[in-house]
Amino acid sequence: MSTRQVELPKKYHQAIVKWSERFLPDYDFLIENWDRFFPRDPEFRLCAYRELGMCTKIECGDMEGKPKFDEAGKMHPKQAGHLLGAIRAQASTEFGSIQQHQLTLARAQDEEEQVWILRMMAEELRHGYQMIHLMLEDDWSAVSDHSEDDMVEQILSMRTGSHILGAFNIDFDSFVDNVTFCALIDRVGKFQLAMQKVSSYQPMAESMPQMLREEAFHLAAGVVPLRRYMEKAAQGSFCVSTSDIQKAFNKWFPRGLEMFGDERGGGTNVRFGLKPMKNAEAQQAYIEEVEKVVRDLNVRFVRARLPELSPAEAQGVLEQLLTDHGAVRGISHEDLVHMPDSGFFRRRGVPAFELIGWDGESFAELDDYLAHLSRHLPDAYRAGRDFSQYVEALTRVHSGETTAAEASQEMPVLTRVGGVCPCSKSVRWVAGNGSNGADDRGSADGVPASTL
Ligand SMILES: [Fe+2]
Ligand SMILES: [Fe+2]
Repeated sequence: MSTRQVELPKKYHQAIVKWSERFLPDYDFLIENWDRFFPRDPEFRLCAYRELGMCTKIECGDMEGKPKFDEAGKMHPKQAGHLLGAIRAQASTEFGSIQQHQLTLARAQDEEEQVWILRMMAEELRHGYQMIHLMLEDDWSAVSDHSEDDMVEQILSMRTGSHILGAFNIDFDSFVDNVTFCALIDRVGKFQLAMQKVSSYQPMAESMPQMLREEAFHLAAGVVPLRRYMEKAAQGSFCVSTSDIQKAFNKWFPRGLEMFGDERGGGTNVRFGLKPMKNAEAQQAYIEEVEKVVRDLNVRFVRARLPELSPAEAQGVLEQLLTDHGAVRGISHEDLVHMPDSGFFRRRGVPAFELIGWDGESFAELDDYLAHLSRHLPDAYRAGRDFSQYVEALTRVHSGETTAAEASQEMPVLTRVGGVCPCSKSVRWVAGNGSNGADDRGSADGVPASTL
């Protein structure tokens, strides 16, 4: 298959370059040193890629078999509205993750790991560029009152706190967050991209293959360092412990699950031919993939601690540890990394604000649950705004002051208040009601889950 490369009109291209000067200041360093770090990979180019020769018939939903749409104006307005919401949400996540990664990029212990994250950030910039390309190449006036300038301005003015999906509003606290985010949250991105590859909107489908190729690198930028940390921890290093990795998993995995949208939703997207799977089905496939990642990390830990074992023997030791929850040959169950229960620390979807513990256990008392969370989440994260807002919302839900559904929608967001000045003085934390679009309501599509 071959690709067509497209550059945005100059003023929008320049706006994205300017954005990168602020949020990705090492971009030029990456480009200048690309051949040194990635000698076998084609040079990075900031442009949109459109895959040629893709399927032209709708692949799922009510219109399966009919020709795909090449223009939004030919779609049913509700269908085009869903699609534009998904493009906006996708664009927001791409730019949002760069802002998060930048917070702790300099704290990497290893230059290669740092440069891999830097490359991933540049590719996220290109993904955001790709989504803006989709917004600008078509006429969305039937489903949006915003001008092209406004749509681009809205995306580029989002900051950590005002992005559409919750996972992109949480600050990173250490470089362990950079790599765990790649391993868990970019993996959600991979699922979304793979689903959108069959989109009934041809320009979206054609945008996915190059993004998926790049996303594979993002997953590696997370998993490869995690494997190293596990091996080093097994060999007695004190730099990164399995407990640090576990706590980072506990911080991000619940947010990853929520990115699939409410477990009861997703049907409309399937009917519209925009995605082939409903939310719960895609979320389950994600859980199974993360289980494999966790198992691989644990096998590496066992093999690094007991190098004399054959691969089969190492698997046997792991099996015994997972079955008995005890200790085998100096390794205890607690030394390993485990998947948090899918109901743990949730704020959206079916288990939102339930007192479900890390192991799936139920808590009767709120204080006991908060003590449980404090043992399982990273210290720096607990000291931050996101956690305090969650605790506040959880307390109101459990005192009967509000419902879980209301609390899901009311999580505060960072938004613009008054004026259009882009300086930080016009940005305030306010109680979010979704009116600024900074509300995922458990939907990865940027539309209320209740309508899906
Ligand atoms: Fe991306
Ligand atoms: Fe990514």
